[in-house]
Amino acid sequence: QTIYLKDYQEPHHWVRDVHLTFRLAPRATRVLSKITFVPNVQNPGDLILDGEGLRLIAVAVNEAIVPYQVTDTHLVIKSGDLPTAPFTFEAEVEISPQTNTALEGLYMSPLNVEAPEEGERESQPGQNAMYCTQCEAEGFRKITYYPDRPDVMAPFSVRIESDMPVMLSNGNPGAFGPGFAEWHDPWPKPSYLFALVAGNLINHPGGFTTKSGKQVELNIWVRPGDEGKCAFGMQALKDSMAWDERVYGREYDLDIFNIVAVDDFNMGAMENKGLNVFNSSCVLASKETSTDANFERIEGIIAHEYFHNWTGNRITCRDWFQLCLKEGLTVYRDQMFSGDMRSHAVKRIEEVLTLRARQFREDNGPLAHPVRPESFVEINNFYTATVYEKGAEIIGMLKRIVGDEAYKKSCDLYFERHDGQAVTIEDWLAAFADTTGRDLAQFKQWYSQAGTPRLSVEEDWQDGTFTLTFTQSTPATPGQSDKKPMVLPIAVGLIGPNGAEVVPTTVLEMTEATQSFSFEGLGARPTASILRDFSAPVVLEREMSAKTRAFLLAHDTDPFQKWEMGRMLAKDTLIAMIMDGTPPANAYLDAIKTVLTDDSLDPAFRALTLGLPSQDDLAQTLYDAGVTPDPDKIYAAREEVRRILAAHLREVLPALYVENDAGAFAPDAEGSGKRSLRLSALSLLTLSDGGATARALYKRADNMTEQAGALQALLSAGLGEDELADFAAQWQDDRLVMDKWFMMQVASAAPDQAADIAKSLTQHPDFTMKNPNRFRSVFGALAGNHAGFHASDGKAYALLADHLIALDALNPQTTARMSGAFETWKRYDADRQGMMRDQLERILATPTLSRDTTEMVTRILSA
Ligand code: ARG
Ligand code: ZN
Repeated sequence: QTIYLKDYQEPHHWVRDVHLTFRLAPRATRVLSKITFVPNVQNPGDLILDGEGLRLIAVAVNEAIVPYQVTDTHLVIKSGDLPTAPFTFEAEVEISPQTNTALEGLYMSPLNVEAPEEGERESQPGQNAMYCTQCEAEGFRKITYYPDRPDVMAPFSVRIESDMPVMLSNGNPGAFGPGFAEWHDPWPKPSYLFALVAGNLINHPGGFTTKSGKQVELNIWVRPGDEGKCAFGMQALKDSMAWDERVYGREYDLDIFNIVAVDDFNMGAMENKGLNVFNSSCVLASKETSTDANFERIEGIIAHEYFHNWTGNRITCRDWFQLCLKEGLTVYRDQMFSGDMRSHAVKRIEEVLTLRARQFREDNGPLAHPVRPESFVEINNFYTATVYEKGAEIIGMLKRIVGDEAYKKSCDLYFERHDGQAVTIEDWLAAFADTTGRDLAQFKQWYSQAGTPRLSVEEDWQDGTFTLTFTQSTPATPGQSDKKPMVLPIAVGLIGPNGAEVVPTTVLEMTEATQSFSFEGLGARPTASILRDFSAPVVLEREMSAKTRAFLLAHDTDPFQKWEMGRMLAKDTLIAMIMDGTPPANAYLDAIKTVLTDDSLDPAFRALTLGLPSQDDLAQTLYDAGVTPDPDKIYAAREEVRRILAAHLREVLPALYVENDAGAFAPDAEGSGKRSLRLSALSLLTLSDGGATARALYKRADNMTEQAGALQALLSAGLGEDELADFAAQWQDDRLVMDKWFMMQVASAAPDQAADIAKSLTQHPDFTMKNPNRFRSVFGALAGNHAGFHASDGKAYALLADHLIALDALNPQTTARMSGAFETWKRYDADRQGMMRDQLERILATPTLSRDTTEMVTRILSA
């Protein structure tokens, strides 16, 4: 059943307050609710409560029996059977967290589905098991009957009864004693922000004093054994709290802020009010077990969830179509935080890399949808790169257009106007329109028009005037054939013939389909640096010689464009090699060498410049140019260019490797930049030294970045068998490190072996379908191994489909998400398309396939 934005209606009842009592038991948790409802005079009607998989024990209204109807999805009380004044609704239901493999609602981690029934033998969950919840988007309805929609906001009081030593919920702690704990959250919130955690947990404590002098208790709660991996996350939390005060003027609003690490979790983390729940991979960190990339991601996600306290929680979404209201803005905020903590230049390049890899890919295929979708079947399928990452790009464009000061004023107005409300994109944009007097009607199309705009440019030079003429067009996407011109902020700078900048960064605001911009009074024809800082999420189509690219690579003052020029040179080189075996031009090889050996450049930046475009990126580029991509050829060409680079850089690689030893490990920008350059050099060096350097580093490494980097270098060169075994022996008891072990083997498998390796790993005793991290380690890596996934025998397609079908019965959300591996099927040749279509149809034919996966596979097939 499809739900439409245009059908939005206020609920018939608002909620004044909620009291919940949980009597926890693995297979028979009782949930008692007492809710005060207030009839909505604007929209009178029946009391409609969501509820799924609940065993209903009792219902009362104002403590009396009332007639009601229960279906698989709802409990309804007719308006005629209800008081016209506010009333209390009470219900008691029973649920089974122990068997909740979907990890939505109240569940246990780890799951123990095979455990004996209650009363048979074991009544207590295993020593390590914990109760936890995931309610966004629509999980609360699996806990009790409730208007499970974000526009219904209420204060919650919660009482938890269990033998678990630690019992947590939202808000501030209340009474507690042996066997019970009470929590009160004074801030009105929607049900999706509810959380409960109970288990044998240990806290890593901390504290923060807000700018108005309020003392806040901080905790990171983990299972015994993980307490040594919390310090970094705690620091990131404190930094986030200080940053939000400093940059957005936002202060924390409870006495306590708790974070819990959970091993079994569908996504990265969740911003429940005062009780953030994290996938343990997104919070636990130590130098021995986490890579620099892990540290960076953890810092960003902790910030993201914390920032939601204002952008998401205090001000929330009216309905799920507005998801980007909180996600786009919060991603933008966490990106700026990470830039401030590390390096804006490096962060921006990394953002563009992921945007292109995930969001452009989505926007170019059958799953393309607007940042604010107009309809959905299952909202969990819209936690996408488009909503999150493109949503964040929109905020960045808005800021660039109105300027820093107006951005700040508009945000302040938004916070002041809408605190405590559930609002829409219209409300967000109104704060900007009212602050600046601008008409944002055309800009608003960024929320409604799907697809990545293509921007082409022509140059003209006459009598000291340099003119850029831009043309934009957006390709058709599912359900949207006619596209209108968008507002594009195009940041441009001009470089003179001697390499000096003659016009600093200027933002051109393009609004027409075709539009010209002139720069007058120039002494000589300049070279344009276009789309600095990647100022708009578009594909720039620009004819450029390798010479011009190399010139900008050497002279551009904008770090993103400087990197981009190296990138384009690499891409042209690879495409030429794929098309007809043309070997790399010296212009490219020398330009890379120059950047690599330029000690004035940040090592992290140099490492990024050495990185080659991914096989998936090349496949999309070929497809856009009307060429059917051949995965084997793409793989072979990329390997060949790596070998040629390794040979060309032979004399500089050993020095780069030695000089970029960062010394004692610190997970900061400087150290990670050096390690990243060192490992990039190592990866090429390993192609020519038989693996000696990598083996030595593997043995000596005292941190996971270098240990895994050395192993990865060996595996990509077809070496490292002993090290792989050693790695498993060393880390067999560490779940998160073992995820890396599973992942690396599949990711670096040769094309003809990837499916077999993945398959044999599913037979490994430590493989389990029930843990999403482990499942993703194997199958995310398989889908990401381009040539391996698209191997011409079709084995990988079938293997993934087998496991998606099996996983769907346990965990629809993760299955649906991973089915996106097939979203690019239309790019390939008829044989591969046929094989992928067969697998998609086989998945779709599965009896009792979930709504989540059905929607995704149907959309993918409709291409
Ligand atoms: N709001 C969370 C975040 O952005 C994501 C949770 C999404 N969960 C889901 N089941 N769709 O941090
Ligand atoms: Zn978020």
